Amino acid sequence: MSFRIIGTGRAHPEFILNNEMLSEIVDTDNEWIVTRTGINTRYVSTHETITELSVKAAQRALEKAGLTGKDLDLILCSTMKGDYACPSLACLVQKDIGADCPAVDLNAACSGFLYALDQADAYVGSGKAETVLVIGAEMMTRYLDWTDRGTCVLFGDGAGAVILRKGDGLKSIKITAKGDDQLLVIGNTFCPSPYGKQPELDPHFRMKGGEVFKFAVTSVLRDVKEVMKAAGVKVEDVKMLIPHQANLRVFQAAKEKLGFRDDQLAMGIDHYGNTSSASIPLMLDELMEEGKLEEGDIIVLTAFGGGLTTGACVIKL
Ligand code: UT7
Repeated sequence: MSFRIIGTGRAHPEFILNNEMLSEIVDTDNEWIVTRTGINTRYVSTHETITELSVKAAQRALEKAGLTGKDLDLILCSTMKGDYACPSLACLVQKDIGADCPAVDLNAACSGFLYALDQADAYVGSGKAETVLVIGAEMMTRYLDWTDRGTCVLFGDGAGAVILRKGDGLKSIKITAKGDDQLLVIGNTFCPSPYGKQPELDPHFRMKGGEVFKFAVTSVLRDVKEVMKAAGVKVEDVKMLIPHQANLRVFQAAKEKLGFRDDQLAMGIDHYGNTSSASIPLMLDELMEEGKLEEGDIIVLTAFGGGLTTGACVIKL
């Protein structure tokens, strides 16, 4: 298929929020959070903007690829909400990295990075672009109800970026959607109008955790099997399965059912928490930097989230 990954980058806020700190503001404790989710700490923005994090991640990815913003043909930014409704986060990144290519945001919640890879595949495969910057950037902590222990312990902030160039690294990819406005929801807020009543939606992140958990396990198993079959790849060929970092238990269950070894499962949820669509590119850059992944390795990416959406792919680095 159309592209290979030639650079990765990441950025996160400075402030580290640990489980003990959370137990001072809601009725929770370290043991519950660690055993139910796998999270120890997460990065939370105290002053950084999502634009700043995205620009840093993009600059690092460009540096590693040996390119500048001027070499890009397209910028795709996966985010649920940038700093502004307009301009898009992608346009703000384009300005700050000195690029002059088209730039657009897309929102598929936690599966957004996979959706962005799929769109990049369409652009590069059709010849409309040769070099694409894909960013996954989220500041989930802006939408938390810090009195709701069921959700405020789960999330962190961050941005991850990849540079894609025409090549044959992508072996298979799949995305899905199943519209639902109950399981995982963040409402928009609107300005009053003299001509009518605006919808009054809850701006906080709300989730039916147990139901999302079941959806996650089922869809991950289905998607991963399907993309591996389409790519002609077996479990022993895969260096790492890099899932959306939502809950350690979801992926331990999936890993066992799929037959992967412990060392094939890449989890960074202990120090990132759930960073939505930033979670896969954050992990990818960390693993590359630590030398745990190298050129030629086969990786499987899988994500699920609000929408409801899912995505998975097989890539040879
Ligand atoms: O990226 C977006 C996709 N989201 C996900 O993948 C999330 C998927 N779901 C999950 O990860 C899990 O469902 C959660 C981690 C959100 C919740 O874990 P759970 O094992 O499903 O717990 P639960 O919601 O069934 O709650 C069990 C108990 C409840 O108490 P009772 O009713 O049994 O007395 C909760 O009130 O745990 C309680 N609880 C907590 N206790 C201490 C819920 N949150 C907390 C907390 N600390 N933070």
